[in-house]
Amino acid sequence: MASLLAQTTSRLGARPAAQAGPVAQMAPMASRVQPAMPSALLPLHARATTTSVACRAASIDKPVVYTPRDSSQQSSNGAGEVSMSISSMDEVGPSYEGIITDAPTRPTGLYVRVRNMVKHFSTAKGLFRAVDGVDVDIEPSSIVALLGPSGSGKTTLLRLIAGLEQPTGGNIYFDDTDATNLSVQDRQIGFVFQSYALFNHKTVAENIKFGLEVRKLNIDHDKRVAELLALVQLTGLGDRYPRQLSGGQRQRVALARALASNPRLLLLDEPFGALDAVVRKQLRTGLREIVRSVGVTTIIVTHDQEEAFDLADKVVVFNRGLVEQQGSPTEIIKRPRTPFIMKFVGETNVVPATSLLAKRMRFNTSKTSVMFRPHDIKLFKTVPPESGEGALTTVGANVADKANLGWVVKYTLRFDDDVECELQLSRDQDEREYNLVVGSRVFVHVPHRTMMGFNASDVDSTPIV
Ligand SMILES: Nc1ncnc2c1ncn2[C@@H]1O[C@H](COP(=O)(O)OP(=O)(O)OP(=O)(O)O)[C@@H](O)[C@H]1O
Ligand SMILES: [Mg+2]
Repeated sequence: MASLLAQTTSRLGARPAAQAGPVAQMAPMASRVQPAMPSALLPLHARATTTSVACRAASIDKPVVYTPRDSSQQSSNGAGEVSMSISSMDEVGPSYEGIITDAPTRPTGLYVRVRNMVKHFSTAKGLFRAVDGVDVDIEPSSIVALLGPSGSGKTTLLRLIAGLEQPTGGNIYFDDTDATNLSVQDRQIGFVFQSYALFNHKTVAENIKFGLEVRKLNIDHDKRVAELLALVQLTGLGDRYPRQLSGGQRQRVALARALASNPRLLLLDEPFGALDAVVRKQLRTGLREIVRSVGVTTIIVTHDQEEAFDLADKVVVFNRGLVEQQGSPTEIIKRPRTPFIMKFVGETNVVPATSLLAKRMRFNTSKTSVMFRPHDIKLFKTVPPESGEGALTTVGANVADKANLGWVVKYTLRFDDDVECELQLSRDQDEREYNLVVGSRVFVHVPHRTMMGFNASDVDSTPIV
């Protein structure tokens, strides 16, 4: 696949190595991918049964659960008919899906800058602020993930960038051009949406050709389709109809169609949302290789934090129409700037600010609650010294529960004021260092710098209606 990918992408007009940039630099990386076919794009015969990975921390009041979507959300009716759930599709019709408005020779991704973007919708209850003053920079050929709770404005921003919505205020720049008022057709964009939105009466090859035909591009369509099928590892399936494909294969056709005319910007709205966790993971690895190799700037909307952190160079976290934080996955994970981000990304224990734990740790805050990560808890079987070398202030707790979760052991600790928190240890570490039984006494230290005070309103994500 590596060499195939390299050949295919060079034919597709990927940036030549002489113009070394992020894409060219990625090319050797792509070519190092072994074996010959990337696992992500292999046939999906190894598809496992649906798994639900629960990463529930401590006495967290918000479990982080990566759960595959209900398959009923798939838009296929079983007869291969696919309806489009994205409202934009209803409005513009399928003709924009996967249509790129530039000739397939453009080498690099667009540089997208969103400035003070505002989108208010008129509703029966007055104006609704779906996007309320957003600034985002999307570097050429990078992958940016828009992450956030339901209703936070992710799709709306994507539609504004696509030109499917008119902004209430603000500007969008593509490279040095103010693109705010450009028509959809003039934006050089490819789309992939959650529902496959393929034409069921057309074969795979005809679906991919569709964009080329609409654009009336003067290139050999059959050759181009063959290249794209190779790119998404569907060679030989061009004559099939969408109903004869798996969900993952259909999404790869949608991706091929979106890339058909070499867009400079690829927009994906929950592209794998209707697929099970295993297929989703395979597809995202394939997507990363493909978009890196063709150098297209990519914006992906996702609910799935793992997907966002794994795929993206930059993650933009939305809440209530605003960007709470944007940065590299590491920055967002390690340096959450607000209580919302801390709570939304990863796992937290929450205790009252007046609890024994907070007081003993001398964590003073004007807020009502304190949160900290379960893995930041330092656990001792005996009281450590409170002065001198290795001194740490601790608070006593009883082991209230121990759950064996395979490779992980989860303890519930109850402090003397009945406040509880939880922590997970690897089974190995537990066997090596703790091996506690329910009822035993332990001592807990939580470093100040890992604690964050907050009020309930700081972490609320209910859209303000
Ligand atoms: N045409 C519209 N009229 C009124 N309100 C709208 C319209 N389109 C979107 N909204 C509202 O704007 C808010 C943001 O919607 P958007 O689709 O951008 O959310 P999202 O972050 O993509 O959510 P999800 O993760 O559920 O897809 C929502 O509260 C939604 O109800
Ligand atoms: Mg959405």
